[in-house]
Amino acid sequence: MSNLQKETVTSVHHWTDTLFSFTATRDPSFRFLNGQFTMIGLEQEGGKPLLRAYSMVSANYEEQLEFLSIKVQDGPLTSRLQHLKVGDTILVGRKATGTLLQDNLLPGRNLYLLGTGTGLAPFMSIIKDPDAYDRFERIILVHGCRTVAELAYMETITDELPDNEFFGEMVREKLTYYPTVTREAFRNQGRITDLMESGKLFSDIGLQPLDKDVDRVMLCGSPQMLKDVRGLLEPMGFVEGSNATPGHFVIEKAFAEQ
Ligand code: A2P
Repeated sequence: MSNLQKETVTSVHHWTDTLFSFTATRDPSFRFLNGQFTMIGLEQEGGKPLLRAYSMVSANYEEQLEFLSIKVQDGPLTSRLQHLKVGDTILVGRKATGTLLQDNLLPGRNLYLLGTGTGLAPFMSIIKDPDAYDRFERIILVHGCRTVAELAYMETITDELPDNEFFGEMVREKLTYYPTVTREAFRNQGRITDLMESGKLFSDIGLQPLDKDVDRVMLCGSPQMLKDVRGLLEPMGFVEGSNATPGHFVIEKAFAEQ
């Protein structure tokens, strides 16, 4: 049996010139945990399939799969993927993996989900996970982008999820969404790292500065963003968790065209 499944694109949404998302059918045998990623891609004529890692935006109980992608004009995969149309076939790996798992974190009070760019993707599946609301008193989703248009899924987060018939109430009580942009005017401005260092993030959301005794953090962004946030967390005693040992924070590189 191939380790890839053929799926059919069911919708495509272009957020900006450089950012789009799409949904696809899901084989019922494909199981994953919220926060994980899998390989997806396209067949290549006369060659091996062209695959890249993508986090699932969709939660693991949803019927369809959803992915968020940048468009790189000369990127081997995304230069083609950005032209996907409804009815097209994509390849989806049968196995999911990743470290942004709730079980990789020690129990805590507040869960911070810090993402830049397409680093939002795994957190979309986590904020749709009722289990996350059972584990934490508050979930704070911080999404950092260059421009307002890149704040993908804003309406889903602010309008749809709080209205969800099953877990909307938990979203309304526990989820704080903090979008911030760096290259144009917006109600929240600045890099996540700067907002953490200055303390503005915490005063804006009405919480104390980070404390390893109560706060847990998941990070998804560029290698430099991960390095910089790690550099803020570790001096405060935060220890990285893994699939082997739970810790105070976990990290995943936001998958971009390499
Ligand atoms: P900036 O505009 O100051 O570079 P990108 O589109 O390059 O992936 O960036 C997404 C968002 O992440 C942008 O707002 C960008 O801010 C921000 N960013 C880039 N590098 C870092 C970093 N090292 N730490 C925190 N935020 C970062």
